[in-house]
Amino acid sequence: MKVAFFDTKSYDKIAFDKYARDKGIEIKYFEAKLNEDTVELAHGFDCACAFVNDTVNHAVIDKLCEMGVKILALRCAGFNNVDIKYALGKIHVVRVPAYSPYAVAEHAMAMLLTSIRRIHKAYIRTRDFNFSLNGMTGFDLHGKTVGVIGTGKIGRVFINICRGFGMRVIAYDKFPSEIDGCEYVELEKLFNESDIISLHCPLTEETYHIIDTGALQKCKRGVVIINTSRGALVDAEALLNGIKSRQVGAACLDVYEEESDFFFEDYSGHILEDDTLARLISMPNVIVTSHQAFLTEEALSNIAETTINNIIDISTKGMCENEVCFKNNTAQDCKNGRCF
Ligand code: NAI
Repeated sequence: MKVAFFDTKSYDKIAFDKYARDKGIEIKYFEAKLNEDTVELAHGFDCACAFVNDTVNHAVIDKLCEMGVKILALRCAGFNNVDIKYALGKIHVVRVPAYSPYAVAEHAMAMLLTSIRRIHKAYIRTRDFNFSLNGMTGFDLHGKTVGVIGTGKIGRVFINICRGFGMRVIAYDKFPSEIDGCEYVELEKLFNESDIISLHCPLTEETYHIIDTGALQKCKRGVVIINTSRGALVDAEALLNGIKSRQVGAACLDVYEEESDFFFEDYSGHILEDDTLARLISMPNVIVTSHQAFLTEEALSNIAETTINNIIDISTKGMCENEVCFKNNTAQDCKNGRCF
């Protein structure tokens, strides 16, 4: 089994080499992202391994199939960057549905605390021996209302963390379930009542720009927006306008709509072409991390182990519980047997 590994970073290699060697899988690492221009690199391989900012559209799927690549192994949970509908019957798409919900939920809380307690400012000030507290006033989380959109694996961990802080938790999910200490509400009510909103739903046609100008207008003045899910859940222009008008009190962004042009690369010393991103980053109440919420040792190890097992399952059994397929007009995990 030969795997063409796209968009490789040094931390990927450490984790994958360990599991691949044990299972006799040969991996060739490419730095390039997978897209129409680079797909030819997968020639001669059985599997292409892709990440969040690779683009797997019709053309890429057609080319992979033409070259005999049978598996697209996503080493991430989200699959919005893959045309799942088009892939059905052509190439097996497997993913890592959960590798550490704690990593992402803890990062969301880390960003929130950093932002509202001005830790990012204190770090810079004290390094310069500036011990002034002017402008550093924060607010207690205890007693505040947090609105969680998406109460799956990550959302639930985040809810538990928030409950530990003594917060009131309200939530919106397309498929609500029972969660202790969490009241499900309609989106409108969540916008109206939340002091903090944290996004933990997938990016779909329905959730695209779920936070837009209209949504922000319904929010409490000074609302804090946390997005550790997918960039396009938030209309970045609308968010920037909300920050400028003071309607948004702070934003914690681990993901950004146009992140694939920038995130994971070092652009220091360059002129940033994206004015919206540059303006957001320049704001004192916006914290941006570059899609690093997943990046813990535990998560990397789980990602590598599950991805390798997914590849082995498809190649030996022709099926895998982590296969994603398009059935009943929706993309879903194919837990019960073969997709095709
Ligand atoms: P999950 O599948 O366990 O939970 C997603 C939840 O969203 C489900 O409860 C589902 O019912 C709900 N949902 C689906 N459509 C919805 C809609 N239209 N409106 C409201 N809720 C809806 O997924 P998990 O593992 O909790 O991950 C959530 C998201 O986090 C992923 O989709 C991915 O985009 C993002 N993520 C980000 C990472 C990072 O490093 N920043 C790492 C891993 C995941």
